[in-house]
Amino acid sequence: FLRAARGLGEAARGMGRAMASAAVRERKVAVLGAAGGIGQPLALLMKMNPAVTELALYDIANMPGVAADVSHVNTRAQVKAYSGDELGDCLSGADVVVIPAGVPRKPGMTRQDLFNVNAGIVKNLVEAIAKNCPTACINMISNPVNSTVPIAAEILKRNNVYDKRKLMGVTTLDVVRAKTFYAEKMGLNVGEVDVPVVGGHAGITILPLWSQATPSAEMSKDDVEALTKRTQDGGTEVVQAKAGKGSATLSMAYAGALFADACLRGLNGAPNVIECSYVESTACDGVPFFSTKVLLGANGAEEIHPIGDINEYEKEALDAMIPELNASIESGVKFAAENK
Ligand code: NAD
Ligand code: LMR
Repeated sequence: FLRAARGLGEAARGMGRAMASAAVRERKVAVLGAAGGIGQPLALLMKMNPAVTELALYDIANMPGVAADVSHVNTRAQVKAYSGDELGDCLSGADVVVIPAGVPRKPGMTRQDLFNVNAGIVKNLVEAIAKNCPTACINMISNPVNSTVPIAAEILKRNNVYDKRKLMGVTTLDVVRAKTFYAEKMGLNVGEVDVPVVGGHAGITILPLWSQATPSAEMSKDDVEALTKRTQDGGTEVVQAKAGKGSATLSMAYAGALFADACLRGLNGAPNVIECSYVESTACDGVPFFSTKVLLGANGAEEIHPIGDINEYEKEALDAMIPELNASIESGVKFAAENK
């Protein structure tokens, strides 16, 4: 038992080392929706991140128990629980705010079907961010990301605190999935592969660029089509397997922790921190929010990479996604305008 426990400790330390640069600064991370399916494992992973000194956990339900539990983990971050009207205190001084608050899909639903409930939740949370930590990096997980990020942008603009570099939609799970599926299919070491995923975070708006994947592999047309579809439907695969008990939580917590760690490394001055993220962008003509690789630095997403060279299959898929992505963006902007 002791050997096993020591092994686990080593694994946790190794993970912490892998996830964070030198813990040089005091950094406060707030998680909103922290008692949920994503929130709980994400809180644990952030507690294990040595770059985090304060971990502020907010939810409208079940927060004290989850926070008490996570707080016993013997790592550096001080954990505090917030509920109800304590949102302002939770956010005050935060460097990174991660938002997995909101309802998840059930089988048969699209992410856009979550709009009516989650748009209001996101609006209220971002209003509180505008008042209490207007310069924080926001990591938006709540779906539909294609719309919740534009909603957040409008709320921040209305409060005169919008800095497009600080608002980031989390599409890391699409990259995580693309890497897993590509490595598995091509017989590559998953630890060595990279696959950029561009566009948005729903169905055909998710576009993995196999032509830019490294190491490159000879893929048949069937492989390309199958892997593209599996990546685009990755969320639905989990929703169906969970059969009414929600959507991806563990893989999302992992992806969310990777992205928040990248933001922290950027804030702490680490060079070349590059991740895909859905941000205000000019990378795709005529689409105001778009995910490509971005360089994360002291001011958030400081440089947005272009889509780069893509093949005919990818060009067609890019053209096909544009109307859907723009419709989702417009519905977010409209919601914000109608809900002042
Ligand atoms: P969940 O229902 O298990 O947890 C959501 C939590 O949010 C609950 O604890 C709930 O109490 C809390 N909450 C609700 N309203 C709140 C508010 N106003 N303030 C604070 N907390 C509030 O759901 P989940 O599985 O954790 O998923 C959360 C969201 O993340 C969903 O919208 C889901 O679609 C989305 N998601 C996104 C990705 C992605 O890749 N971006 C991946 C998976 C899930
Ligand atoms: C995912 O990609 O897993 C999430 O967006 C959740 C969902 O509804 O599919």
